[in-house]
Amino acid sequence: MSAPVLEIRNIHTFIGQFHILEGVNVSVPQGSITVMLGRNGAGKTTTLKSVMGLTPPSQGAILFEGKPIHGKRPYHIAQLGIGYVPEHRAIFKTLTVRENLELAERQAHDLEKRIDFIFNLFPAMRQFYHYPAGNLSGGQQQMLAIARVLVPENRLLLIDEPSEGLAPVIIEELMAAIQKLAETSTVLLVEQNFRMASRLADRYVILDDGQSRVEGVMPELIKDEQLIQRYLGVA
Ligand SMILES: Nc1ncnc2c1ncn2[C@@H]1O[C@H](COP(=O)(O)OP(=O)(O)O)[C@@H](O)[C@H]1O
Ligand SMILES: [Mg+2]
Repeated sequence: MSAPVLEIRNIHTFIGQFHILEGVNVSVPQGSITVMLGRNGAGKTTTLKSVMGLTPPSQGAILFEGKPIHGKRPYHIAQLGIGYVPEHRAIFKTLTVRENLELAERQAHDLEKRIDFIFNLFPAMRQFYHYPAGNLSGGQQQMLAIARVLVPENRLLLIDEPSEGLAPVIIEELMAAIQKLAETSTVLLVEQNFRMASRLADRYVILDDGQSRVEGVMPELIKDEQLIQRYLGVA
């Protein structure tokens, strides 16, 4: 396997006085989909925010394509080629789909170059291009949130709980899109829906209580009912 695109080495992160991450290690190989699993409050979102420099770690190291990025400002980390799709579909509801995508440009003509790819992946974006994003369904808003990180060239995508609150048929559509994305970028996904995670991801890492506990390849986790029960509480 080639060198990891992202390597999180034993990070500790505080939010205010609270010691939220107490030793998180994650390795994301090139071209893979790695899923971060764990109960609510385990520290998954904080891990993604730590990578982006939004809640910078106070200890440990984060390497992107072999180079340290911890300690850099969020805009700088993004510019290196990391796209972040936060929880809860952070889009501008009063702006049109097109305007949302334009705001995601990092350089002139980014959108022009990528629009066909985006329309192909998410046909609804073509259909509603000139409509306010607030008019979209929940699933379409999630698609727009993902489409925004496809506008600039990103080699790593961090996607936080894309399936949250969506109907199964929409989740299927999203899964297919994420799978397609993984052909050209590496993906680190947070996903509560174990069924979705297990079908989509090549690798997994389980967080519990602010620490990473186990990581490995997905087929092995699927076989390990005890591990799934212990950390995820699903059958
Ligand atoms: N802004 C904050 N202030 C205080 N505690 C926080 C804050 N954000 C998150 N936490 C706490 O950090 C822990 C990890 O949260 P989070 O990373 O959001 O978990 P997950 O995404 O796995 O559900 C939780 O106990 C949560 O309550
Ligand atoms: Mg979260």
